[in-house]
Amino acid sequence: MKVKEHEFPGVYTVIEDDGSRRIATKNLVPGQRVYGERVIKFRGEEYRIWNPNRSKLGAAILNGLRNFPIRPGSTVLYLGIASGTTASHVSDIVGWEGRIFGVEFSPRVLRELVPIVEERRNIVPILGDATKPVGYRALVTKVDVIFEDVAQPNQAEILIDNARAFLRSGGYGILSVKSRSIDVTKEPEEVFKEVRKELEGYFEVVEELSLEPYEKDHELFVVRKP
Ligand SMILES: C[S@@+](CC[C@H](N)C(=O)[O-])C[C@H]1O[C@@H](n2cnc3c(N)ncnc32)[C@H](O)[C@@H]1O
Repeated sequence: MKVKEHEFPGVYTVIEDDGSRRIATKNLVPGQRVYGERVIKFRGEEYRIWNPNRSKLGAAILNGLRNFPIRPGSTVLYLGIASGTTASHVSDIVGWEGRIFGVEFSPRVLRELVPIVEERRNIVPILGDATKPVGYRALVTKVDVIFEDVAQPNQAEILIDNARAFLRSGGYGILSVKSRSIDVTKEPEEVFKEVRKELEGYFEVVEELSLEPYEKDHELFVVRKP
């Protein structure tokens, strides 16, 4: 087994003995596992395998994402952080110089995140509703990236409202869209087209990528605030 740097800083490619490839991040908190992920050691460092079946961002990278604005040192507003599966990899990537403001509206889910952030101190958990950014305005600074995975009908509007409040100009948004959360009666392609149009009213859309086969009827958008 070998580990080498991926083209995205902070992400690693693991090449197994049989030649198969996975992605991983270097564990910021050695010894901590977050969601039962496989942990490997290579040349004295600990890496956490990023499971694309549990993380849409992981699925996007494996599907050949070209624009990945989250880097070591980035400040990220994460909408729908849940219990921290994907956020833990983002936390590994941004490192101790970076920060994640993680908004979640379910107290039960957020409680599961608490033991993780006790050690992973670059994550600030916030009990809040992503549709009401004014509710956490006092807790969040300007950010480089907003990542949104809330599975709600008005996902584009939520991203735009949060970008108006918190995203620096030139910053990026990453939006995971589940077509069935928006309209079960429409074809997913139709739903994605409408979301894209709405995003184009505020952002420059730099990439649109399907998350199949990892997630059915999901699309990931990367957008830039002019
Ligand atoms: C698909 S899960 C997120 C999974 C997570 N991004 C990951 O990959 O580890 C969606 C989460 O968004 C939360 N959510 C839904 N609507 C929300 C809202 N308006 N504000 C904040 N959180 C919300 C849900 O409670 C749920 O935990």
